[in-house]
Amino acid sequence: MPVKITIDKEEKHTRARLGRLSTPHGVVETPIFMPVGTQATVKTMTPDEVKQTGGRLILSNTYHLYLRPGHELVKEAGGLHKFMNWDGPILTDSGGFQVFSLGPLRTITEEGVTFRSHIDGSKHYFTPERVMEIEEALGADIAMAFDECAPYPCDREYALAALERTTRWAERCKKAHKREDQALFGIVQGSVYHDLRERSARELIDLDFPGYGIGGLSVGEPKEVMYDVLDHLMPIMPKDKPRYLMGVGSPDCLIEGVIRGVDMFDCVLPTRIARNGTVFTHKGRLTVRNAEYARDFRPLDEQCDCYACRNFTRAYIRHLIKANEILGIRLTTIHNLHFLQRLMEKIREAIREDRLLQYRAEFLEQFNNG
Ligand code: GUN
Ligand code: ZN
Repeated sequence: MPVKITIDKEEKHTRARLGRLSTPHGVVETPIFMPVGTQATVKTMTPDEVKQTGGRLILSNTYHLYLRPGHELVKEAGGLHKFMNWDGPILTDSGGFQVFSLGPLRTITEEGVTFRSHIDGSKHYFTPERVMEIEEALGADIAMAFDECAPYPCDREYALAALERTTRWAERCKKAHKREDQALFGIVQGSVYHDLRERSARELIDLDFPGYGIGGLSVGEPKEVMYDVLDHLMPIMPKDKPRYLMGVGSPDCLIEGVIRGVDMFDCVLPTRIARNGTVFTHKGRLTVRNAEYARDFRPLDEQCDCYACRNFTRAYIRHLIKANEILGIRLTTIHNLHFLQRLMEKIREAIREDRLLQYRAEFLEQFNNG
């Protein structure tokens, strides 16, 4: 098996697990946060910079790379690792989220999905078999199955149809997937309905994937609803397989996810808000672009030791962003990635010492009341 999780410790008072995920491109510690490199780049960062923030496993997107520059070109370059010069592990999402987010630009049938490119309006067709061909060409360590991510809110009937289709497509993905140096993960759907989540999980577990994504969450539902789904779903997930909560990455959701037994996360949030001039701090979010920071000569976060915080002030970074200087959003990106990686490190430490609930209380106290 190309990808395998070893659980070293289960936390005493929660479902949190401390582990190591081994991949063809190295071993990473879990729980892990994966920075997003949609277009074969974590926006504004060199691979070395991503590493310096603590990033070890990155996510990229099948949909975007298929449209541009094309998976055949990436294959010709020697695969995604070589093309972007990232020597650590990579996970590719399947397009099951992007394609369904296109709204009127797409048509779903049992066979697959027809959609129009967001770039030039050209027409394309994704089937589970086609997506496997693309993900194999990209050559990530982990490929996600082609799924249907139902929107929120979504009625039971639609959620059921989407999860059943997701199972049939997962089966087709498994049949079509040939690369032995790549792991194929199934994706649990079922919207906010506990029995549908369980049904989806059981159907996918029967297909015996080496890991499982939990999709269709963080799509607009209240956080409490997501936590509730995880509370019911996680106890039935196999203990010896990695569990990946897709599209989740706010600090509070990372902690709550880990407490419920999640091993892997990804989210555009840290990199996206950074480009808007917003940063995480131990005392909550801060929009450094705002006028109130014009003469603030403190670092972005007084408790952070990232490259940006060790060397620059809020006033300077605000100036860069106001003047449209690229360094501004590079520094906020470095800080936000470092902040989340540091949080994951603290979480892993707390699991090791059986004090994760205490850590949650301490972190949130400061983060919510800063
Ligand atoms: N990213 C966030 N949610 C999802 C999902 O449900 N499916 C896929 N493929 N990717 C996601
Ligand atoms: Zn910092």
